[in-house]
Amino acid sequence: MGLFDSKKSHQAGQVDMSRLPRHIAIIMDGNGRWAKQRGLPRTAGHKVGAEVFRKIATYCKELGVEYLTVYAFSTENWKRPADEVSTIMGLLKQYMLEAIESMERDQIRLKFFGDMSAISPELQEMVERTNAISREIDGFQANICLNYGGRDELLRAARAFAADCVAGERSADALTEAEFGEYLFSAGIPDPELIIRPSGEVRLSNFLLWQCAYSEFYFCDTLWPDFNERTLDEAIIDYQKRDRRFGGVKK
Ligand code: FPP
Repeated sequence: MGLFDSKKSHQAGQVDMSRLPRHIAIIMDGNGRWAKQRGLPRTAGHKVGAEVFRKIATYCKELGVEYLTVYAFSTENWKRPADEVSTIMGLLKQYMLEAIESMERDQIRLKFFGDMSAISPELQEMVERTNAISREIDGFQANICLNYGGRDELLRAARAFAADCVAGERSADALTEAEFGEYLFSAGIPDPELIIRPSGEVRLSNFLLWQCAYSEFYFCDTLWPDFNERTLDEAIIDYQKRDRRFGGVKK
């Protein structure tokens, strides 16, 4: 779907453009079921899923959302069949190749959250390149969680913080939430106001465990390959009806 269709989509809906979430996070779920329903291999669902990611990232940027974080591959996903793992890695490689060519022109920053030491040296090198390009760019940022786990992220942060304490650079007694946040993959990025999980599953699956403290959740039955700009509009409209109190009382 091109720019024209996307614009039409949010004009037709009731998204309040003055109250957009700055950061939306999505668990891209349901690719396997989508493929199975069509008698296709699971990998076919991931291929369409990667296209949907491109479409939704473009739409978020057009709307004025500042950050989109997606769960592409968890620390547990290595348990999947080898051909499925290699298809997902291949899709990420393809996307990074395209991004390296286009992100400067499109002003899209790309960041990877997760333990990159387990991915192939070729992908690691591409991650480095997209990071370097991103440092030169301002504007919309897509974060792709790759070999990511929320607990793993917290453990890494705790280890790094402890090491800094031992080195005398930090003090455990003085630790604040903001300071701890600097040790996370999401350092410098606001927490997601809205977390979306399509496909009918109602759980967090080790996604952004620290960052979700005050997020609004949106669950829908649409499978990720069927997710589109309208589905995102519906999620944002639903979010905009919520009364976010952050533990306080209604004014
Ligand atoms: C979950 O659906 C999806 C994944 C584990 C992989 C998601 C990866 C992509 C969409 C490709 C990433 C590429 C880019 C460019 C971001 P599932 O397979 O668990 O679905 P199921 O629950 O129906 O089996």
